[in-house]
Amino acid sequence: MKWFAAVEEVRRFSRAARQAGRRIGLVPTMGYLHDGHLALVRALKAEADVVILSIFVNPLQFAPHEDFERYPRDMERDRRLAEAAGVDAVFAPDVAEMYPVAAETYVEIPTLSARLDGESRPTHFRGVTTVVTKLFLAIEPDVAAFGQKDAQQAVIIKRMVRELLFPVRIVVVPTVREPDGLALSSRNVYLGPEERRAAPALWRALQTGEARIRRGERDPAAVEAAMAGVMAAEPLVRPEYARVLNLDELVSVPTVAGRLLLAVAARVGPARLIDNLCLEVEGDTVRPTLP
Ligand code: PAJ
Repeated sequence: MKWFAAVEEVRRFSRAARQAGRRIGLVPTMGYLHDGHLALVRALKAEADVVILSIFVNPLQFAPHEDFERYPRDMERDRRLAEAAGVDAVFAPDVAEMYPVAAETYVEIPTLSARLDGESRPTHFRGVTTVVTKLFLAIEPDVAAFGQKDAQQAVIIKRMVRELLFPVRIVVVPTVREPDGLALSSRNVYLGPEERRAAPALWRALQTGEARIRRGERDPAAVEAAMAGVMAAEPLVRPEYARVLNLDELVSVPTVAGRLLLAVAARVGPARLIDNLCLEVEGDTVRPTLP
């Protein structure tokens, strides 16, 4: 497995592979790899001949009061996991390599970025779209994978790629969960044992929302109240939101129909956790979907 820290080097590697007729796949991550990240690698192994995994904790997507400094990092472990998963090359630049001058040039979709998580994290998605643009320019992938876990991020990246005509196909991979339903996340290490036991309330809330819809509930407010109630019943969980939104526009819906995002967020101890379900509702038919 190759390891690059410089943009010029990873670009040379990627271009040479492309010239040799290979399809390049990119999995952007912030490292501290878990099986969710590796599911993205596995999905791209089927779509690309060369899989490049990037590891970069992107300061631009953290607000000053957020966890940039204490975000978990373990390059040695990441190297072993990436190699075992069949990654061909890791791109792990430092901040000075990705931001040679203080960032002033941004890529931003102001509407989608202000909704949902953007309400409490107003500069977050601008940081994501900017760094993903830079990764696309550095690596020039044919295909890139993103997780359903961060559904708003996937929606925004897909919109950005369409709007800016990036020649990159976006693959969205279903959320990987612990046996008790908790979505895998690098931030789960922030949870103490009691908090870890409480955290699956987010997944139970989503399942309750889906069950209501399957039993015929078509009032989005009733579904939202049911999800919020499940989270509120868990003393260590401080709910931030429970929403039923249109999956493509991330806006409220008048009735439970079409492509929907059931999204929840909560603070559990020091961690802010998010989770979601994507459903397509057509009359009485309810089926899972993806951003
Ligand atoms: P990070 O949180 O490291 O996640 C990297 C990718 O893994 C994202 O596409 C995310 O949605 C996906 N992922 C995380 N947990 C998952 C799970 N349990 N199941 C499936 N996929 C999962 O998201 C970021 O980094 C950053 O914002 C990034 C896109 C790298 C830009 O900095």
